[in-house]
Amino acid sequence: MELGLKGKVAVVTGSSKGIGRSIAEGLAREGVQVVVNSRNAKELEAAASEMRSAGATVHAVASDVTDAEGAKRPVDEAVRRFGAIHILVNNAGGAGRFGSFDDLTDDEWLGVFNLNVLSAVRATRAALPHMQKQKWGRIINISSESGVQPDAMMPHYNASKSALNSLTKSLSKAYGKDGILVNTVSPAFIRTPLLDGMLAQQAKARGISMDEAEQVMLREFRPNILLGRAGRSDETAGICVFLASEQASFITGSNYRVDGGSVASL
Ligand SMILES: NC(=O)c1ccc[n+]([C@@H]2O[C@H](COP(=O)([O-])OP(=O)(O)OC[C@H]3O[C@@H](n4cnc5c(N)ncnc54)[C@H](OP(=O)(O)O)[C@@H]3O)[C@@H](O)[C@H]2O)c1
Repeated sequence: MELGLKGKVAVVTGSSKGIGRSIAEGLAREGVQVVVNSRNAKELEAAASEMRSAGATVHAVASDVTDAEGAKRPVDEAVRRFGAIHILVNNAGGAGRFGSFDDLTDDEWLGVFNLNVLSAVRATRAALPHMQKQKWGRIINISSESGVQPDAMMPHYNASKSALNSLTKSLSKAYGKDGILVNTVSPAFIRTPLLDGMLAQQAKARGISMDEAEQVMLREFRPNILLGRAGRSDETAGICVFLASEQASFITGSNYRVDGGSVASL
């Protein structure tokens, strides 16, 4: 299938590792010039360097997307370095502390909303004028199954991902007329450094291996994953590359779940 992505320019926030890295690699394999981003400059440059060795055209921009200037900078740098921005993947995100409602402070709520929602608002605000001018754009927000199927734990994270889903819908309605398509991809339980950190804690606490910890977590916290295993980053990247492509030209305002069947609703 010809995706029509060759020569396009993308920004993927939070892409030194995990899902963001797989998305950046997937886009680069299709000939997209990619700006990768994360806070840790050394790790980011190492990732960019590995990608270049595999033939990718990559520019690394270290910044913290929870900061207004840091969210804007990868977009500005894409335009400065490659002359355009066609694709924005708002991937940087996280869960904050694993807490219950009565346990979480206002600062923790604000921190998680800043990371998962405002970072996307600010990067999108920076990218929109360029996309409007060229009458072509793709914005992909990386949400979570928790945005539509929230658990009792981590209500701040769950609510922030619901807000991101809502933002996607609003943006799709506002900017469809400009040729800008906005969609959400919602993973669940993907083996990334984020999840591996949680598995390592379980493995240590229970004196079991990482693979055993994965099975324990599936049984106790993610019993609805029909496929009975964690997903891989590259299994999340494929749909993002497709949504960025010319082949997705009639798709906007949608939420694509990559969750092994976890979300129960249709
Ligand atoms: N893994 C899952 O099971 C899962 C499930 C549902 C949804 N998601 C969502 O998928 C996205 C990626 O998750 P992941 O599991 O791949 O996470 P990860 O393994 O922790 O990787 C996160 C990436 O984002 C960067 N990052 C974190 N905070 C940042 C910030 N403030 N500014 C810039 N970069 C930042 C990290 O590098 P630095 O630390 O150096 O900045 C890293 O490159 C998140 O939005 C997450 O909510 C993941």
